[in-house]
Amino acid sequence: MHYDAVENNHGLKHDPFKALIAPRPIGWIATVSRDGICNLAPYSYFNAVSDRPHYVMFSSKNIKDSVRNIQETGEFTCSMSTWDTRDAMNVTSAPVPPEVDEFPLSSLTAIASKFVKPPRVKESPAAFECRYWKTIELPDVAPGSDQGHFMVIGQVVGIYIDDAYVSNGLVDTGSMRPLARLGYMDYAVVTPETMLTINRPEMTEAGDIADGRPEVWDGAFR
Ligand SMILES: Cc1cc2nc3c(=O)[nH]c(=O)nc-3n(C[C@H](O)[C@H](O)[C@H](O)COP(=O)(O)O)c2cc1C
Repeated sequence: MHYDAVENNHGLKHDPFKALIAPRPIGWIATVSRDGICNLAPYSYFNAVSDRPHYVMFSSKNIKDSVRNIQETGEFTCSMSTWDTRDAMNVTSAPVPPEVDEFPLSSLTAIASKFVKPPRVKESPAAFECRYWKTIELPDVAPGSDQGHFMVIGQVVGIYIDDAYVSNGLVDTGSMRPLARLGYMDYAVVTPETMLTINRPEMTEAGDIADGRPEVWDGAFR
């Protein structure tokens, strides 16, 4: 099949778009409202967008509590959603009103961040503490409307990593078992067994791609 994505005439049971952008990391966004109420929700339109400075973004369909709190208070955290926290993560996506704190709702522990006011998820092995930069309203947002897609971008000003997952100067991502979102109601999990190493190519003096690169990382970051 090959279809017009603007018309979106895929003819399938469900829009396949998200099943094709997979896996997507899940940013588990914690904020604090102007009234001091904590909020926690997962966003899979989430990713890193730059290195030094580190910036991350997530995108919200309509202005939800996370976006409103960030726009009002200027800070958020993104904790890593993992295999062990998958059920609690799902609970935090429940459509509850802004006065409900999803931490107790999901039996998760809000632990104080170091650089920003919103807490992070204690049960997560890693978290980013972020300062809000801006919201980009995608073209489906009518001026002044809270309906449409809002991309929130923030600078990472603090990073928490559980030291149990650091060895030989490297983060053991597989052991953290990060959860990723696929399409429909599907998820995937990264484990040591599903990880692989591919060293980047090097050129020979003759300008060819050098072959024979080991599949074990040689320690050079290219
Ligand atoms: C794994 C997962 C990923 C999600 N990703 C998004 C997303 O990228 N954008 C979005 O608008 N909603 C997403 N949702 C739905 C929100 O989590 C849900 O609407 C939540 O109630 C928003 O909470 P808030 O109003 O506290 O921000 C996702 C839900 C789940 C379970």
